[in-house]
Amino acid sequence: MKAKLEQIKAEALEALKNVSTMEELDGIRVKYLGKKGEITAILKQMGKLSPEERPIVGQVANQVRADIEASMGEASSAIKEKLLEQRLKNEKLDVTIPGTEVLAGHKHPMTIVLDEVKDIFVGMGFSIAEGPEVELSVYDFDKLNIPEGHTVREWQDTFYITEDEKVHLRCQTSPVQVRVMEATKPPIRIISPGRVYRKDEVDATHSPMFHQIEGLVVDKGITMGDLKGTLNALVAKLYGPEAKTRFRPHHFPFTEPSCEVDVQCFACGGEGCRVCKGEGWIELLGAGMVHPKVLAGCGIDPDEYSGFAFGIGLERVAMRRFAITDMRLIYENDTRFLSQF
Ligand code: DAH
Repeated sequence: MKAKLEQIKAEALEALKNVSTMEELDGIRVKYLGKKGEITAILKQMGKLSPEERPIVGQVANQVRADIEASMGEASSAIKEKLLEQRLKNEKLDVTIPGTEVLAGHKHPMTIVLDEVKDIFVGMGFSIAEGPEVELSVYDFDKLNIPEGHTVREWQDTFYITEDEKVHLRCQTSPVQVRVMEATKPPIRIISPGRVYRKDEVDATHSPMFHQIEGLVVDKGITMGDLKGTLNALVAKLYGPEAKTRFRPHHFPFTEPSCEVDVQCFACGGEGCRVCKGEGWIELLGAGMVHPKVLAGCGIDPDEYSGFAFGIGLERVAMRRFAITDMRLIYENDTRFLSQF
C-alpha cells in the first residue's frame, strides 16, 4: 500500500510538471485528491490493514497528500504568473504608435458669419424672424410694390411651383418684411436670414441658391439717420471700427428713398485693386426707407409710422470676411477647404 501511495505521488508530480492551465490543474486535483480520487480509494482499503500498519500507512498517505498539495500550489502560482504575463503582453500599451485622429466637426464659414451677424443685431435689440422658402408671388412681388409686368420680376426670375407663377421659390428675403408687418404691430425690429433662389448660372460669384439676411425696423419717427447708424454699426462690428462706408442712391420698388451701401476695400484701402475691381469700394447691401405703399398695404399707417429695411447677401459677407474668391467652394463640402475655418 505504501508503494502504491508512492507511485500515486510520483504520477501526480509528473502530471503536475506538464499542466499549463487551471482547468488541467483542477482535473489533477480531482483525479488524485478528490472524494473519488486515487488516494481516497487507497484510504478506503485501510480497514484491511493490521492495527500496527494502519498509522504508518495513514502517515504516508497524509505525507503524499501534503506533497501533492504543495506541488499543486506551486503549479497554480506558476500558471497564474504565466497568465498574468500573457495578459500584460496582450494589453501592452505602446505609446509610440501614432494615435487615431478624431475628426471633430466645426462650423461652416457661412454659419460663422451668420452667427456673427445675428449676434450683432440681437445686441441692438432685433429679434429673428422666419419666412417660407416656397412663397406666394403676392408676398415676393405684389405687396412689395412690384406689380405684374414690372421689369424687376424678370431679373428676379426664379423657380415656379405652379404654372400660373403664383407660387415659387422666393427670390429674396424681402417677403418676410410683409409677413412680419401683417402679423405684428410696430415697433418692429427684426432680421430674417434664409435661402433665396434665382435663375442664375453657377459661376465664381453666382449660384441659383444663395442666402440673404433681411432687416426691418418700423416705429414712429424712424429716419434715414437710423438706417445709416444701424448699418454703420454693422460694418464696424464686421470689418473693424476703421472700416469706411459709402451710401449711394439706388432704386428698389419697396423703398423710397433707396440706397446701396458699399464698404471701402479692405485690400487696398480705397486705392483701387483687383479685389474691388479698381473701384476702391465693395458693394455690401441694398437698403432704404420702407415705401409708404408697402406700409399701408400691410395695415400700417404711413402717416404715423416710418421704417427702414435692408437686404444683405450672406455669401458676399463670408467671401469678403475670409477672402474666398470662388463662391462654389462654399457649397462643395470639400474638407480641404472647410478645414481651414
Ligand atoms: N431684396 C433686395 C435684393 O434681393 C435687397 C434689398 C434692398 C432688401 C433694399 C431690402 C431693401 O429690404 O430695403 O436685391
